Amino acid sequence: METKDYSQIFELQNKYVMNTYVSTGLMLVRGKGVNVWDSNGKSYIDFACGISVSNLGHCHPAVTNAVKKQLSTLVHVSNLFYNEYQPRLAEKLIRHGFDGQAFFCNSGAEANEGLIKFARKWGFESGRHEIIVMEESFHGRTLATLAATGREKYRHGFQPDMPGFVHVPFNDLEAVKKAYNSKTVAILLEPVQGEGGIIASNAEYLRKIREFCDEKNILLLFDEVQCGMGRTGFFYAYQGYGIEPDGLSLAKALGNGIPIGAFLVKRKYEKVLTPGTHASTFGGTPLACAGALAVIDTIHNENLLANCVKQGHFLVEQLEKLKKKYPCMLEVRGKGLLAGVLFDDSVKVGAKLLPLLREHGLIALPAGENVLRLLPPLNVKEREIKAAVKIIAECLAILAAAKQAAT
Ligand SMILES: Cc1ncc(COP(=O)(O)O)c(C=O)c1O
Repeated sequence: METKDYSQIFELQNKYVMNTYVSTGLMLVRGKGVNVWDSNGKSYIDFACGISVSNLGHCHPAVTNAVKKQLSTLVHVSNLFYNEYQPRLAEKLIRHGFDGQAFFCNSGAEANEGLIKFARKWGFESGRHEIIVMEESFHGRTLATLAATGREKYRHGFQPDMPGFVHVPFNDLEAVKKAYNSKTVAILLEPVQGEGGIIASNAEYLRKIREFCDEKNILLLFDEVQCGMGRTGFFYAYQGYGIEPDGLSLAKALGNGIPIGAFLVKRKYEKVLTPGTHASTFGGTPLACAGALAVIDTIHNENLLANCVKQGHFLVEQLEKLKKKYPCMLEVRGKGLLAGVLFDDSVKVGAKLLPLLREHGLIALPAGENVLRLLPPLNVKEREIKAAVKIIAECLAILAAAKQAAT
């Protein structure tokens, strides 16, 4: 393969790109399936998928071909015109869940902003606007989604917070009931908290929350930006809980890397947002929707929900085996292929473990307080999981030896 000199790129980045990300210092230049390659030609197993974005693996041919074809047919039209792919995609998303309608946008934050606007508009006549949200949640970086986010570290420095959000502990029904008042219009939560540390809702809790929303006539809204699109082994994460929300947000894996987000609301709310009340220039372009349609078709054609369940069990099983050997692994968490390991303080996930894993050829992510987050593509194979877990085992052995040498 032709080698390229990328040395100048690091300088350009430092000088001209705003420094808002905690960078790994690596430059990735190519991806195929579960693998990515850096600018030195080193290959990695990618168990981050962006951050739950490339759920079909990198450069899946079905998506690449659909986008390539659309790229030379029609890339963009404004939403003042119909385009063939937007309604087709809306229909597919609706047919996978509850009857209703979709609005298309570009990112997770924008999808959640839309849900928040939808809730406010619905509650406007009755003077209700407050949304109950969860501690440790993550909903995005815009001002409204930041105010909804339940982790102070993300909000710090940007106060005053946009008003209208009340934070309560996750999985605590009584806290929700206590926070409820005559201004409450909705409850917004992630069925499985991703950034917060792979923390799943308790099934009984979600069922009771649904009942509470019905009783008080308030909306139940789910942020499925990270846990949706098959990641938990269900097309929508809520489908693992036997209840339905009134609205939900999607982004990330919807386009397998092509930027697209959406929010869906139930049929009975289809008249809440009317012409002129919400819009997005790039929302639902033919290009993005053609890509997302190929994503959904691939989930079916390749039976990826079943693979996600199967390989999710296998991954958790392998991690549980490792946990028996390494007491620093406090807890293995997993819903489908949304998996995590909580470590004790002796292993610093962000500062030590993740760089070491990368050195050994595995890309993973941090989450919450000291949780290693593993997000393999939904078409991951057993041998790839074995290879990744082997790298984790090797790195834990290195850290354990270093700790022993230091004592
Ligand atoms: C649950 C959840 N909601 C919203 C977002 C924000 O998405 P985006 O970065 O596309 O705005 C994220 C991103 O990590 C997320 O995990």
